[in-house]
Parts: sequence; structure tokens; C-alpha cells
Amino acid sequence: MASSGSFWMPEQGSTIAADVDTLFDFIYYLNVIFFVLITAATIYFVVKYKRKSDDQLASSNVGHNTALEAAWTFVPLVLVIICFVWGFRVFLDQSVAPANALEVQVKAEKWKWNFQYSNGSQTLNELFAPAGRPVKLVMSSKDVLHSFFVPNFRIKSDVVPNRYTSVWFEAKEPGDYQIYCTEYCGTGHSSMLATVKVLPAEEFDKAMLKGEWPGQSGEGRDPVEWGKELYVSKTCNACHSVDGSRLVGPSFKGLFGKDEKMTDGATVKVDENYIRESIMDPNAKIVEGYAPAMPSFAGQLSDGQTDALIAYIKSLK
Ligand code: CUA
Repeated sequence: MASSGSFWMPEQGSTIAADVDTLFDFIYYLNVIFFVLITAATIYFVVKYKRKSDDQLASSNVGHNTALEAAWTFVPLVLVIICFVWGFRVFLDQSVAPANALEVQVKAEKWKWNFQYSNGSQTLNELFAPAGRPVKLVMSSKDVLHSFFVPNFRIKSDVVPNRYTSVWFEAKEPGDYQIYCTEYCGTGHSSMLATVKVLPAEEFDKAMLKGEWPGQSGEGRDPVEWGKELYVSKTCNACHSVDGSRLVGPSFKGLFGKDEKMTDGATVKVDENYIRESIMDPNAKIVEGYAPAMPSFAGQLSDGQTDALIAYIKSLK
């Protein structure tokens, strides 16, 4: 099977993708064929049976043709049954994870994706997975309805509060694959993006053992540059602007060193400790005029990432 996708579909990144695309192509071309046939027949009949003169009567000799009626009932029925049975089988393959699948817990929350692995580690907006092995995602939402969609893997599932849903995939090749939220979940919906980072299996095993994922320490990186990337990849941008405009939360522009008035009347000077606390325990202090809407990022950002975000905020004079 080709892994290149098609005009309609992106590159096939998972083992199930080819099956989904074959079914899609079957239904699609079936529709194209019947659309062309029916349209052509309609045009042909319109021309052929056009009333030739004004005094010609409407046809009075329309009869009954049992063979024709049986054909146009039976043929679509068979086609619909084929689509159903085929679709149901692919749906089952897609829904039931192999017994040996690695399990990852997924928590969706306005507006971020949190992934928890069996070694106790967590990552934010980055799902690490091994190539060539099945991975089962057990998903739930902390607030509203979200939906987990990886176009390259042809998997999509609603992520719902107070219950678990699951999908699975087996990535064919190492690489980065885009995750979208596809259920409108508020102002930050379109920023609720994440990436599946598929690693070669040995590299994945090493990271699992160490409890350390690639790219989390930021070694040798300029903290301000890294913080600027994290501001987007960790979806801070869903709620905080960097140009002074008001979103769900206060803007980062000129924030560092400012005196902020809190809802309890106290005034707090914005320094490293205040920003760190606001990231890890956002409801400890609420800036006057804002709702306590921010989720906690405790355990989901490494120390290096937190430092880089602080460095970036500091740089936004
Ligand atoms: Cu989460 Cu849209």
C-alpha cells in the first residue's frame, strides 16, 4: 500500500491509515460513478422526451416496470450493505487496541493536552510514542468536550468529561505528526494543538527508562528563544497576548516588574517567584478583573521550560 496519501488525504502515518483510505476511496468513487450516471441520464431524458409542440399532452402511457424497480432497489441495497459491513470492520479495527498496546493517559483541558506514561512522567502538548508498536490512548477531559484528531493516523475521538474514551495507533515511521482539537471548546480552541513525536523504538525505551523525554531540558538553547517557542507550543498564547491586548488572562507585555492588584486587595510585584507560582498554582493569586480560569501546569513543564518561559516574559518590555 502506498503511504503517500492522496488528493483528499494526508500522508499515511499509521498502520490503519491505508484501510481507512481504501474504504474512503471506494465510497468516494462509487458516488462519483453514480453521480455521473444519474446526471447523464437526466440530461439525456430531458432532451429526448422534451415536449415537441404546445398541444402535445403530458405522457399518458407511463407504465410499471417491475424489473427496473427491483433493480434500482436491490443494487443500492447491496452497495449500502457492503459500505456498512466494510465500514464496521474498519471501525472495529480502529477501536479495539491490540492487547499488547502501550497505554498512555490523555487529559484534555482548556486549552492543552497532557500525556501521562506508565513510568509516571508527563508531557504537555507532546505525545511521545514508539515507531512500529501499538499505542492505546485512554482519554478524558477535565472540563468541556474536546476531540482528539491526528489526520496522518486517521484517528479521531471525542474526549469527554466524566468518562473515558480510547483510540489506538501504530505509527509506521519516526517523525512529528500534528494533533488537533476538533470540538469547539472556547476562545482557545484553535490554539489547542499538539504533536505526536514518534521516536525509534530503542530511543523510546531509553527515554521511558530514564523518565526523560527529548527536548525537555533545553540544553544549549537561548532561554528567551526557547521560551518564545514554548509560549506557542504549550498554548500560553490561547489566553495571554504579548502585544498588550486583553485575552482571557493578562498580557505578558511589560508584565515583569509590574505591580499587580489582586482580587483580595493585595498588591503583588511580578517577579520570578510570582510567575512560577502562577504557572504551577494559578489560583493562589488572581489579578483583579480576571476570572480564575487558568489550569495548573504543575508536573507538566520541566524546570528548564519554566525558566525559559520566565526569561521570555522578562524580555517582553
Ligand atoms: Cu479543545 Cu477545541
